[in-house]
Amino acid sequence: MESVFDYHSARAMLEWQIDLGVTETISDAPINRFEAVQEPVKPKATATVENGKPTKPAPPVKPVAVDAVAEAQKLADQATTLEELAKIQSEFEMCDLKKGARKFVFADGNPKSRLLILGEAPGRDEDQQGRPFAGEAGQLLDKMLAAIDMDRTGENSAYVTNVMPWRPPQNRDPSVEEIAMMMPFVSKHIELVSPDVVILMGNVACLAALSKKGITRLRGNWATAFERPVMPIFHPAYLLRTPVAKRDAWADLLAVQAKLKKGA
Ligand code: URA
Repeated sequence: MESVFDYHSARAMLEWQIDLGVTETISDAPINRFEAVQEPVKPKATATVENGKPTKPAPPVKPVAVDAVAEAQKLADQATTLEELAKIQSEFEMCDLKKGARKFVFADGNPKSRLLILGEAPGRDEDQQGRPFAGEAGQLLDKMLAAIDMDRTGENSAYVTNVMPWRPPQNRDPSVEEIAMMMPFVSKHIELVSPDVVILMGNVACLAALSKKGITRLRGNWATAFERPVMPIFHPAYLLRTPVAKRDAWADLLAVQAKLKKGA
């Protein structure tokens, strides 16, 4: 169908929508992309002849569902440095969130830190800047770190990353499938940094690391994941909405500080 718009007007309109925050196009019918399978390879319709008689064309090749988690695991296993991991993960094409995101958001802070903070996923600010916790929740995170004499830039800095490196549309929670296909990368990320302690910021990080939700119950209790102690803590975005919960978060941070002082 011929478009009523020329290339330049169509592009200007698209860019305007992206500036307004549009991150995906919506069609009339919903599409379940997790059901997507590789296109079957159609056999060529060339009839062959044997003993003077035409033979039947070969049957179509059955579609093969690609296991995204296995593929992610295979790729993550190849990384021996954080730089390699960032490159490999940024080129992973099986997570649909990548298509709607502006930037790949890998990590911030000191890669040699003894404390790693695992957040959820980039939001609008992070998607624009390519840095985790760059927005309002990030400012509160910096205050939380300051409460235990830490930061993201100085000598005593923490390392900050997320379960998901691409922004989900409308800041929705990443789905269980999306989390599952990122886990090989997250585990390798934590293995390469090798912190003494991991803070799980909020429900998505708890779901990813512990396969459990319910941060109100989980917070403040040490658990083990990634072969090291992990502490679930309220997410700063939740604390911005629920300031009364800051007291609990501060108590949990002090427990983390004490653990680090003890040598974890
Ligand atoms: N919330 C997160 O969990 N991570 C970010 O990077 C920003 C907001």
